[in-house]
Amino acid sequence: MGSHILAIDQGTTSSRALVFDKAMKVAGQGQKEFAQHFPQSGWVEHDPEDIWESVISSVRSALKRARLSADDIAAIGITNQRETTLVWDRKSGKPIHRAIVWQDRRTSDICNALKSAGKESLVSQKTGLLLDPYFSGTKIKWLLDSVEGARRRAEAGELAFGTMDTYLIWRLTGGAVHATDATNASRTLLFDIEKNAWDDELLALMDVPAAMLPEVRDCDGDFGRTDAAIFGRQIPIRGVAGDQHAAVIGQACFTPGMIKSTYGTGCFAVLNTGDTQVRSQNRLLTTIAYRLGGKTTYALEGSIFVAGAAVQWLRDGLKIIGKASDSGRLALGADPKQSVYLVPAFVGLGAPYWDAEARGAMFGLTRNTGPEELARAALEAVCYQTADLLDAMHKDWNSRGAATVLRVDGGMVASDYMMQFLADILDAPIDRPHMLETTVLGAAWLAGQAIGMWPDQTAFSRSWALEHQFVPEMDEAVRNEKLAGWHDAVSRTISER
Ligand code: G3P
Repeated sequence: MGSHILAIDQGTTSSRALVFDKAMKVAGQGQKEFAQHFPQSGWVEHDPEDIWESVISSVRSALKRARLSADDIAAIGITNQRETTLVWDRKSGKPIHRAIVWQDRRTSDICNALKSAGKESLVSQKTGLLLDPYFSGTKIKWLLDSVEGARRRAEAGELAFGTMDTYLIWRLTGGAVHATDATNASRTLLFDIEKNAWDDELLALMDVPAAMLPEVRDCDGDFGRTDAAIFGRQIPIRGVAGDQHAAVIGQACFTPGMIKSTYGTGCFAVLNTGDTQVRSQNRLLTTIAYRLGGKTTYALEGSIFVAGAAVQWLRDGLKIIGKASDSGRLALGADPKQSVYLVPAFVGLGAPYWDAEARGAMFGLTRNTGPEELARAALEAVCYQTADLLDAMHKDWNSRGAATVLRVDGGMVASDYMMQFLADILDAPIDRPHMLETTVLGAAWLAGQAIGMWPDQTAFSRSWALEHQFVPEMDEAVRNEKLAGWHDAVSRTISER
């Protein structure tokens, strides 16, 4: 048996692979970006072959950098961008269409029709979600309705549906395993989170044949072995969780009341609510945090669609920075007297507004506004949106009296400038850990503990180490004024549809 764990993180803009040793230290890593396709306004697609190729090449470079081979890998953990929807032919393995990405808004009409038919409360009650194009269910319906012959083939059992975890498991196992885990299933609009099962009523509502669904397993379940032709030997796949859920695990947010907020392409704040399914009064989602050894832990989630994507826009769209990490430095040079707000509703607004048709807007521009102010507005927008989420979370949860901890991770949190502004605007301390790769660590831990190589939950929690705590320093009047400016900008963006 090998001595290392391989974790694959199949994200929205890149795939990554990290190899960890027995002491949970990173031995090597690889990463590959892949193309984003935007065929129409609000549409976002990925080519599944690009995804597969980016995963395999990341794994190869991680192994190479760690000076290891597949023989050294004891088990694989997989984490992934959630909700992104793919349908493929079981026999040929050929996808019927490019993957429809979680950010894609093409099914907003389907969602509106279901809402008008009064179906949202039924859907929310069973799934914990809302009727928004974000989730997989309506994307599957769109594919079956739009690709010729697809519905007939799906009903005949010829087609398989999967989120990216499922697709990777299927390909890695040479088509032997068609499975997902409970966290990914909980984002489809088809899964009853109380019963922990696909739901016939929801399947009928979304017109999705049961024959195309994967089997749902625990996050630390057995997902089969890789086909020997891929890495030269069979390796067990022993951990799977959607990326935000893996981050909850990697941040060791195992106690009810703990929150993690991850800044990747989007920003996702997740509050562990333990055995309780808290139903939000403030447009947050109820979701499965993780399911380990058959036991389900729930969470409240606030989802923002654009966080790091705003910085990518500064880099690739506006071309005012050369690399993402330049954004903080540029923002520091902004004129403090200008109040420029960016509402980055590039693909609509997520929680707590859920406006699929809204599009991005900027406010407060003057002749003196330049790249510095735009960069600052982009970073601040991420913090304002987090404040909206946390505000909603506190309303839904604080009546329960538990103290909350906020742990941050993801690429953007390396910016001290942004973290200080976040603490200031939230008026709460922010804990940044030493290990910022918490999503991948979470996936690796699932696999590592499943095979008995890594510590149990309690010992793993103790290994979490604080690198820096950012404490609020902003004057209350300034904070309130800034937040009022943000809310004004959001309300004008929504009402200008
Ligand atoms: O729900 C979408 C989420 O899983 C994507 O995560 O890290 O690619 O922003 P990320």
